[in-house]
Amino acid sequence: MTNPILSLQDAALSLDGNAGRVDILHGITLDVAPGETLGLVGPSGSGKSSLLMLMGGLEQATGGTITALGRDLTTMDEDALARFRRDHMGVVFQSFHLIPTMTALENVATPLELAGEADAFARAEAELEAVGLAHRAGHYPSQMSGGEQQRVALARASAPRPDILLADEPTGNLDASNGDAIIDLLFGLRDRHGATLVLVTHSQTLARRCDRVIRLRDGRIAPDAARDAAE
Ligand SMILES: Nc1ncnc2c1ncn2[C@@H]1O[C@H](COP(=O)(O)OP(=O)(O)O)[C@@H](O)[C@H]1O
Ligand SMILES: [Mg+2]
Repeated sequence: MTNPILSLQDAALSLDGNAGRVDILHGITLDVAPGETLGLVGPSGSGKSSLLMLMGGLEQATGGTITALGRDLTTMDEDALARFRRDHMGVVFQSFHLIPTMTALENVATPLELAGEADAFARAEAELEAVGLAHRAGHYPSQMSGGEQQRVALARASAPRPDILLADEPTGNLDASNGDAIIDLLFGLRDRHGATLVLVTHSQTLARRCDRVIRLRDGRIAPDAARDAAE
């Protein structure tokens, strides 16, 4: 790959807990091309969420290097990483991480305001409409279902038009029709804005639409990923 937008070289993650050291990811080497959609699959506990956190600079690698848009995330300090994420990345967490004291509209408008958008609230309204939640703009996360919170989280992550969107099981809490709407929204971001997508998913439907699927097992890329992806 000539110019990957995201490149991991032998990336590793180990965490020290009170039960000792846990090795979570081992020697992950992987390039993602600009505009590519990469699916991450694998059993629960295989390291998919952890890998997404490394790619987003939300967890520091304990080994190897991670480069995004040509910048080495492993040597940036917290402030530089926060700015880099604000300017280039969108993340949809498995547990949404919406701000509980803010309405849906405020949750979506906040990153737009931070990015200096003049019409942040009007834009946020349009983004909520795109996920079918215009009528819930004034509601707080606790007043919404898991699926609705997930759609707000996706609106928030995609509103600033990130170069790279990382999403952890973006259709995991949704029924088929809402899931399809979210898939269309994700791919619209790619097709209309050239975003690169990395999607953790258990959904066959979503995995099939990815350009490439990588399977994790015990914190490593499984060698049979290509064959599994073709199934
Ligand atoms: N903060 C943590 N401390 C210790 N172990 C963790 C921590 N976070 C995740 N793990 C472990 O790392 C492994 C991978 O977790 P995760 O990335 O969440 O997997 P997946 O998303 O594929 O289900 C699991 O064995 C999990 O228990
Ligand atoms: Mg996970």
